[in-house]
Amino acid sequence: MSKLLAILAFASAFMVLSASAGNVVCYFASWTIYRPDNGKFTALDTDPNLCTHILYAFVGLREDGSVSVLDDWEMTGLEELAHLMSLKEKNPNVKILLSMGGWNEGSQKYSQVAANPGLRQAMVTSVLSFIDQYGFDGFDLDWEYPCQRGGVDEDKVNFVTLLGELKSALNAKGMILSAAVSGGIASCKLSYDIAKVAENLDMINVMAYDFHGAFEPFVGHYAPLYASHLDQTDEQKTLNVAAGIQYWLDEGAPPSKINLGLGSYGRGFALADPTNTSLYAATYGGSEAGPYTRAMGVIGYNEVCELYSDWDYFWDDEQQVPHIVKGNQWLGFDDPKSIQLKVEFANSKNLGGVMVWSLDTDDFRGICGNGPYPILNAIKNTLH
Ligand SMILES: *[C@@H]1O[C@H](CO)[C@@H](O)[C@H](O)[C@H]1NC(C)=O
Repeated sequence: MSKLLAILAFASAFMVLSASAGNVVCYFASWTIYRPDNGKFTALDTDPNLCTHILYAFVGLREDGSVSVLDDWEMTGLEELAHLMSLKEKNPNVKILLSMGGWNEGSQKYSQVAANPGLRQAMVTSVLSFIDQYGFDGFDLDWEYPCQRGGVDEDKVNFVTLLGELKSALNAKGMILSAAVSGGIASCKLSYDIAKVAENLDMINVMAYDFHGAFEPFVGHYAPLYASHLDQTDEQKTLNVAAGIQYWLDEGAPPSKINLGLGSYGRGFALADPTNTSLYAATYGGSEAGPYTRAMGVIGYNEVCELYSDWDYFWDDEQQVPHIVKGNQWLGFDDPKSIQLKVEFANSKNLGGVMVWSLDTDDFRGICGNGPYPILNAIKNTLH
């Protein structure tokens, strides 16, 4: 009898370890604490029962391989970190990971450190001691991207080596390694040996967004679930969530390691001709900055639902995503309806879960009338 119990206990423990489905990986972007009014988001605004993992974005990398603190930590950063760690009192199961990199860090330092065994070792040592010092549960690397933006061709191989060394060191201490990777097929071909990248990560957060934006001179949704009949080139037809995820699967990434990256934001344009709001219609730059996110061409879901609820709303039946229009402003984004459809897609592919960039642009205060965190709740209610 006791033997049977032992076997049952072993079997259920094994199931817990091997069943990685249900990940909700949420990014906390430290700079959002400086936003004005209802846009101000602090670590204590996080609901730790809506996320399985919270990723602190970002720290940087120095040329000597050590972790650098990007935010003004002496003043408010350390306090925010303490607040973040205090979320474990509300949910002891939530994992809090340190995230390094991001778009603004570029690629060059990562390329140089990854190429040099001594610098890689210095990075592993520095990351582990930083994690120890502040009590993180793991590490997330957002190198954007190997072989691009100041990187070199050898990055493709060196990235895998770096991940392998980080993963061994972290796993030996019972911690995990994740990375944010591109969801664009052309970008993936430049940057990754996907099967080997997958082997050397515990979780793969595929950034299945930013397929279109004000970096192009025409209208496009930042994260369509599926292609549109208006897509013309072969590349345009693959700039969507379904194609990007399918590429990672086809190249050998195990579905259980993949988290589908979702946005709680959007990207917008100023239309060249306000009467032509079609996909691929001409634009002359990004949409006007929102009062909270304060960047041209970018908008938070919280801004859309709180401030632009009177704009004309359109649903694209092919792409399965919404956009709103007023005058010459065209904003494509995700709302709880499109998020639900994307999570259903993740379920249909048996993915490990989803990743969300980022906590601060959900309607975290519940101002729009559907309770706090409508996007994260749509995820929670849909994800298997
Ligand atoms: C809108 O712009 C697209 C892309 O340039 C063009 O193909 C289409 O004919 C335009 N539609 C109208 C109504 O002008």
